Amino acid sequence: MVSAKGSPGVTTSALAVASQWPRRVLVLEADPFGGDIGAGLGGGEWPSASGLADAVVDLRSTGLDEALRRRVHRPAPHAPPILAGLGCVGQASSVAWTQLGAALGRMPGADTVADCGRFAVLDGVTPLLRGCDVVVLVVGSGLRAVRAGSRIAPLLREELNAEPGDVRVSLLVVGPDEPYSTSEIAAGCRLPLLGELPRDRRAADVWSDGVPPARAFDRSPLQRGANRIAAKLVRAGTAGAGAA
Ligand SMILES: Nc1ncnc2c1ncn2[C@@H]1O[C@H](COP(=O)(O)OP(=O)(O)OP(=O)(O)O)[C@@H](O)[C@H]1O
Ligand SMILES: [Mg+2]
Repeated sequence: MVSAKGSPGVTTSALAVASQWPRRVLVLEADPFGGDIGAGLGGGEWPSASGLADAVVDLRSTGLDEALRRRVHRPAPHAPPILAGLGCVGQASSVAWTQLGAALGRMPGADTVADCGRFAVLDGVTPLLRGCDVVVLVVGSGLRAVRAGSRIAPLLREELNAEPGDVRVSLLVVGPDEPYSTSEIAAGCRLPLLGELPRDRRAADVWSDGVPPARAFDRSPLQRGANRIAAKLVRAGTAGAGAA
């Protein structure tokens, strides 16, 4: 999942969708501008030796299974397993994204949902995006969000060699109708619509800020929407091999 601009909710959506994944799943926090999950969902109590930076070092001397066993953390029962992101801006260029993505794609019976942050042509994680079965552009529904999405969409299609309409580059709208509808946004971005997630402040705070889930959290609009998106992504991704 990537954004064009303006923090539409990539991290929140990736965590919510992964929490509803019908198969084994890993969240890879691959935001090139640095990770937020340890501070947000993790409440700043993320184990210090967990995360992508340490996994990258491990991978020089050991296999993926062992690196993930050491560095993946599941902060709460409602959360998916997570390889938390980088601490510094600029570290992303030292990660062998192509190899990491390929190794994750080969995990038997498991998928990866990657939070790739804001799409940046030069400093971003384009090699990782190229290896994904599905790239999801996450956008809000305001004027600036839609404009930014429509500028980024052709670049994403180009990276994946996807023709307009190819579901390998799809659109996820967070908070539709503020004021543009999902169909208007899909037409503006010329991307197939994966779906939408509702604005749901209370449930979103669980993922972005580590607020403890309320009793009805599982039935919240965000979690129910995430469940539908997870099912659609699994269907779209089974044509390929493993990473969403
Ligand atoms: N579906 C939603 N409903 C209501 N609020 C949301 C939703 N999704 C995200 N938010 C809120 O929007 C804010 C930004 O969310 P988030 O950090 O997930 O965005 P992001 O796109 O990952 O941003 P960044 O590019 O800074 O990493 C957070 O306060 C989060 O709680
Ligand atoms: Mg984020």
